[in-house]
Amino acid sequence: MTDSRSLKLTNDSDTLCELPVLSGTTGPDVVDVQSLYSKTGMFTYDPGFTSTASCRSSITYIDGEAGVLLYRGYPIEQLAEQCTFVEVCYLLLYSELPNNAELKEFANNITMHTMVHDQVNNFFRGFRRDAHPMAIMVGVVGALSAFYHDAMDIHSKEDRRICAIRLVAKVPTIVAMCHKYSTGSPFMYPQNKLGYVENFMRMMQATPCDDYEANPVLVKALDRILILHADHEQNASTSTVRLAGSSGANPFACITAGIACLWGAAHGGANEAVLNMLLEIDNVSRIGLYIDKAKDKNDPFRLMGFGHRVYKNHDPRAKLMRETCHEVLNELGLRDDKMFKLALELERIALEDEYFIAKKLYPNVDFYSGIVLHALGIPSKMFTAIFAMGRTIGWVSHWDEMIADPDQKIGRPRQLYTGQTRRDVPPNRG
Ligand code: CMC
Repeated sequence: MTDSRSLKLTNDSDTLCELPVLSGTTGPDVVDVQSLYSKTGMFTYDPGFTSTASCRSSITYIDGEAGVLLYRGYPIEQLAEQCTFVEVCYLLLYSELPNNAELKEFANNITMHTMVHDQVNNFFRGFRRDAHPMAIMVGVVGALSAFYHDAMDIHSKEDRRICAIRLVAKVPTIVAMCHKYSTGSPFMYPQNKLGYVENFMRMMQATPCDDYEANPVLVKALDRILILHADHEQNASTSTVRLAGSSGANPFACITAGIACLWGAAHGGANEAVLNMLLEIDNVSRIGLYIDKAKDKNDPFRLMGFGHRVYKNHDPRAKLMRETCHEVLNELGLRDDKMFKLALELERIALEDEYFIAKKLYPNVDFYSGIVLHALGIPSKMFTAIFAMGRTIGWVSHWDEMIADPDQKIGRPRQLYTGQTRRDVPPNRG
């Protein structure tokens, strides 16, 4: 990890300090600035962490320029085409793809943990029925920390793995409960005979009066959405989980911090925002108006589902999601639906527009996932909760990796202070 190279920081001809340069297995080298303050009395300044590696990680690699995304070294395209979401969960958590026996045991373990404690049902009743599902998720997933606290030793690898399985198993049940609660329908219990995605779809769509049999094309589409959202290295919500977990906090509470961060429209809230934007545009004839709004510096409006902090040429997940989007629209005979026509026309116009080309703003994964989820009949308010369901395995794998790291310490950034310098409280303030 360390090599003999270093970076000299000079002021005119004086050397201020020499900082080690570290190399990973691939990707840019990093300057190790840990000794900068003790050597120079200076901090680094990097709002939004655009040039800062906050940790070492062996889970996910992204090359934003080349549009590459690897989970544990495997390209996202191969995983999306050849694996299921449950296999990808195993890969992220245990570093290797499972063999048949390992997969069977892992999938069975997840199935055995899908039910939530019956007392969890009571938490829902405290929410108004029109509460946003992400608000409920923050409350209910956070509440799981009360059920699994004293018996959990975060320094035990075994306990961490059980915690990961519990989270991957129970989050879909809670997401489906959020949906049922908002529609005033009874909660549907998980069914052990069903696979991960079929079970979730049934908990979402079935009622005690009507069962639900999932269409395999739609199951595959949702499975792919989960794979594509499973991890994305040190994104905002994952960094939030790491920072919360760095103090040794309860992992269910830390995952909840990630859910809260994901909710924002610049992150996981984008898929819901895409749908709301399409509803607002309403008609193909109004697309030009909204493209102009997106380009106007004085208008805060942004084209939702376009652009990415890391991918500056294309988002490899978007290409796979676009393919799924077309499969689903064909399967459901929705190609002529007004909303989908609008989305595809918006995509076409934005891809040809000079502003978007110059700023390298391409459709991201959430542009298409929003359209697919809408086609699956899932209300837009639920979209970010489904993103959270896919990302749970990423969050918990990063938390596990961080706790196991011998160099791990509590996260504590520094700042550039711009407030008042020291002053005294005036004796007479009248
Ligand atoms: N519509 C119009 N203009 C945009 C957009 C957009 N969607 N995105 C970026 N720009 C412009 C922006 O105004 C800026 O212009 P200028 O250079 O003249 O100031 C330039 O492009 C660079 O934007 P930025 O905000 O500095 O870039 P960033 O890397 O900080 O932001 C982003 C990335 C994803 C937050 C942003 O592109 C955005 O807000 N997109 C819409 C929301 C969205 O779709 N988010 C989902 C991201 S994918 C899911 C995930 O991984 O979480």
